[in-house]
Amino acid sequence: MKKVLLIGNGAREHVIGETLKKAGAQVFTYGKVRNPGLIELSEDYFVGGMRDFGAMRDFALKVKPDFAFIGPDDPIADGVADMLLELDIRSVAPLKTVARLESSKSFTRDLVKKYGIAGNPDFKVFFSDDGMGEFLRGLGRSYVVKADGLMGGKGVKVSGDHLADETEGLAYAVECLQAAGRVIIEEKLVGQEFSLMSFCDGVDIALMPAVQDHKRAFNGDKGPNTGGMGSYSAPDHLLPFLSQKDIDKAAEIIRQVAAALFKETGCEFKGIMYGGFIATASGVKLIEFNARFGDPEAMNVLPILNTNFVHVCEAIIEGDLASLPVKFENKATVCKYIVPQGYPDNPRKGEVITIEEMPADVRMYYASVDQTPAGLMLSSSRAVGLVGIADTIEAAEKLAAGACDRIKGPVFYRSDIGTAGLIESRVKMMKELRSGV
Ligand code: AMP
Ligand code: GLY
Repeated sequence: MKKVLLIGNGAREHVIGETLKKAGAQVFTYGKVRNPGLIELSEDYFVGGMRDFGAMRDFALKVKPDFAFIGPDDPIADGVADMLLELDIRSVAPLKTVARLESSKSFTRDLVKKYGIAGNPDFKVFFSDDGMGEFLRGLGRSYVVKADGLMGGKGVKVSGDHLADETEGLAYAVECLQAAGRVIIEEKLVGQEFSLMSFCDGVDIALMPAVQDHKRAFNGDKGPNTGGMGSYSAPDHLLPFLSQKDIDKAAEIIRQVAAALFKETGCEFKGIMYGGFIATASGVKLIEFNARFGDPEAMNVLPILNTNFVHVCEAIIEGDLASLPVKFENKATVCKYIVPQGYPDNPRKGEVITIEEMPADVRMYYASVDQTPAGLMLSSSRAVGLVGIADTIEAAEKLAAGACDRIKGPVFYRSDIGTAGLIESRVKMMKELRSGV
């Protein structure tokens, strides 16, 4: 039986742990809080900080795993895979030098440009404010300013959305410049975003079903941006507004970026390569890359993985993905997150929630909740992910929504994610964009 060291403690890691265990592994978890779902499935559970390399190292030496799986972006960017490799433990997660694919947006934009790969919008990396105003104006006041580095999803500001005018745009760009010594300004892309995740062994990739996440806090895509309020995937592994051609283009970008990364750094990317794409009037464009599973997207794809997950992880590490057929069930999935009232700006934390018995056909994954003697306590972030799996998106949505209603306390969720109304509005938007209306 394989032993796996799992690092992280959110709903993403809960589903990773569940899928490893289903594949016959023993899971040993290192997390910063006590996730009740992971505690239940783990052989051992150590509570420690994500930056506490000493504690992580001691736990890894005690567990002596066959391999490690690192869930969240921060420890990956900080080089936990490098630290574990020094102990002779290989990880499903990239080494620090190739983890820059996520941790440095300018690195990735420059890489894609240098190797002549499609998908970049018009962009420029600035090291001083020289020429910034001119570049902004050249983009027709339709631009995005991106801080360079991991900002917990809060470093990107979009004109017309977060930045009212040129003065605000320039002020934010200067703020980013002062913080990191550089800032990216790029063309604002208009269309439908989608996540295309893949397993990558450094050379070959195996695609997962495409998923659409919902970043805004409230129904109708209103309110502030969040880590993601929920997501869905379709039985054909495309999305209702995407064609096979769109997916093929996005997959080609991922493949070429994996090759370019190796040429540029001499280091193979072994882990989850996650492309954030947008389908626009002029084709598929690249928003960003992540070096890990998406959260919530992991909850859409892992429950329908038909290939033994331990075998997939071993193939990633050994560079053997080409000889392993990786298959997913042809099912629709809808994931909805229960979050504290007031999330994300003023979340009510420290309050207890109760969970009524769940139907057997629903998956429940714990995120930012702490198992305390007083009960299951909310923290300030997303609390529980509920996933419905069915033959149609509509049926999967009903399962997920019904499950959300069984969680009681000062919480809310987006009732529109996965509904026919919202999906039809996206299909209509894409049709209009493509026909130039
Ligand atoms: P990121 O942190 O790169 O995922 O960006 C966060 C969000 O900002 C994305 O999910 C998009 O909604 C938005 N965004 C980033 N880059 C662009 C762009 N070039 N055009 C339009 N929206 C963007
Ligand atoms: N769902 C967005 C992310 O994981 O970055």
